[in-house]
Amino acid sequence: MSGYPAVPEGIAFGGDYNPEQWPREVQEEDVRLMREAGVNLVSLGIFAWALMEPREGGYEFDWLDTIVDRLHGAGISVNLGTPTTVPPAWFSRAYPDAFPVTREGVRVGAGARQHACSSHPAFRAASARLAERLAERYGDHPAVVMWHVHNEYGAPLGECYCPSSTAAWRSWLRHRHGSLEALNTAWGTAFWGQHYGEWEEIDAPRWSHTVVNPAQRLDYARFANEEHLSHYRAQRDILRRTGKPVTTNFAGTVSCKSMDLWRWAPELDVIANDHYLNGEQPDNHIQLAMSADLSRSLAGGQPWMLMEHSTGAISWQARGIAKRPGEMRRNSLAHVARGSDSVLFFQWRASRYGAEKWHSAMVPHAGTGSRLWRDVVALGADVRRLAPVRGGRVAAEVAIVWDWESYWALELEWRPSGDLAFRERVDAFYEALWREHVTVDFVHPSADISGYRVVLAPSSYLLTETSAKNLRRYVEAGGHLLVSFFSGVVDENDTVHEGPCPGALRDVLGLSVEEFHPLRERETVTLTGGATGRIWSERVHLGQARALQCFADGPDAGHPALTVHPFGAGTASYLAAALHGAGLRAVLTDLLDRAGVSRPRDLPDTLELVRRDRYAFLINHGPTPANVPAMTGTDLLTGAPFPGQVPAGGVAVVELDRRTP
Ligand code: GAL
Repeated sequence: MSGYPAVPEGIAFGGDYNPEQWPREVQEEDVRLMREAGVNLVSLGIFAWALMEPREGGYEFDWLDTIVDRLHGAGISVNLGTPTTVPPAWFSRAYPDAFPVTREGVRVGAGARQHACSSHPAFRAASARLAERLAERYGDHPAVVMWHVHNEYGAPLGECYCPSSTAAWRSWLRHRHGSLEALNTAWGTAFWGQHYGEWEEIDAPRWSHTVVNPAQRLDYARFANEEHLSHYRAQRDILRRTGKPVTTNFAGTVSCKSMDLWRWAPELDVIANDHYLNGEQPDNHIQLAMSADLSRSLAGGQPWMLMEHSTGAISWQARGIAKRPGEMRRNSLAHVARGSDSVLFFQWRASRYGAEKWHSAMVPHAGTGSRLWRDVVALGADVRRLAPVRGGRVAAEVAIVWDWESYWALELEWRPSGDLAFRERVDAFYEALWREHVTVDFVHPSADISGYRVVLAPSSYLLTETSAKNLRRYVEAGGHLLVSFFSGVVDENDTVHEGPCPGALRDVLGLSVEEFHPLRERETVTLTGGATGRIWSERVHLGQARALQCFADGPDAGHPALTVHPFGAGTASYLAAALHGAGLRAVLTDLLDRAGVSRPRDLPDTLELVRRDRYAFLINHGPTPANVPAMTGTDLLTGAPFPGQVPAGGVAVVELDRRTP
């Protein structure tokens, strides 16, 4: 089963609702205010295990019945949570060995949340029992339109090193490798004399005083991902019997490194993402766009849900930066532009106590006499006007390869440079395209990519033979591929592909690399086209490829820095330098032109433009009005003809008429 929940109308608007913190009068006021703001969906019960099951096996749901009924009476739908992210105190006391253990051997304490190990049998059993009870009691309730399992798997702790995990790890290894011989080969245990003669000899890759076998680390990351996934699946299977869609909220598609979301995506009925803006970062809306594009890509292009974001301050960041006027609106509508059919927040009402009382909310401490509340009400009205957008698809001609396994592997210790980081390159490429108004999908390197005009592989350090063949086939059939340095160099076991780098891509790129020349901290290199690179330089030898630019200085002066290889019906380009900003943009625009990627010209690069079906979202992040003269149609947000200009900080959602190409 798959599908978007039966939220009554249009785009879902609301957020996490934790009424258990409030007396009845406040709960009643909540519902009145929700109606005033146009809230139509709330996520309930996410942290309420201790109230639902105050004693082991003793369930109490009357309080929840009252709340669900009250919401239903007001026409507000419920996304009902299974609260397994916070096991009650009785559970921790009864099962002290269920506390997770960090890689450093520290046992996680109680009093916070996420303090049970996903592999622990008692935790799994208690979670499943609770899911059964919730399914039984609320499965038929007309207000409950979907299920929200757990909360943000893998954040903050992806890997657990407790005894239950270690036992599960050994059986996972048997299943993955089949024999000890295969495991010894995969892990390269001949190095540093690590050969295993019995399964029981294998431990989790705990902290050690120097580098632990990277292949073992990589397998552990895979294993940890699967353990959380199987905890999710068990609840999902129970809840699915109700016929209502089941999801879990990702802890930020672009920021949650520990979970391989390509493996999660097919297990969810609807993709749900939490996105928290980095208040400190200039142009943080670009990272937001990237997170939304990755969410849509995980959803296979189907509508997805923005399950949480903030109205302002985020209390777990070093500074709780308030959003500037208009920013919450721009943020919210940017998610919708990129395929979200919901605008949901953490949380409805600011808590008076507890860890997150300084986190912003839809109803702030200042109450309804505040700018923030007025903005929330206005946003609710905007969201209602966007109802026709629901279900609309976003098309992309360009894809960026994103692989969590490569992310994990690249960021293990002792790489040729400590400056190499997965997001460093991906973000640089994404930003250049965002500024060119090019919408991007993200793809796994083994996925069907035949529909894209351009595929970029900025950080594909780990690339399996299968994925490399996939990229090769793509180029042969007429695709345009651009690969960045230090890609395609190791396989799934972090073993260097045979021969010179980039082993898996040598033939398609038509070149080989003789030696890496990582740069010193502030050192830069210049290319013959004038652009400057940091971090990296390397000695490229051309095979069938030809050089478009060379290094003009540095350790590889006079040698190729940007190459292209016509291969089959397509081309494979290689960029051996870490370019940024305008320099990278020039390389990419060249490629986009060569590949015939359509995009608007002459728009300011602070204007976000995304097309969702026949609606064009125009979000002006700049300080001056942006002219978009060629576009004609009706602005859904005003109901008036689009005047050809978006005010500074403003948004227009133009239903395009036939005159607009
Ligand atoms: C999310 C989490 C929420 C809340 C929020 C605050 O990561 O799912 O429960 O803590 O952060 O930003």
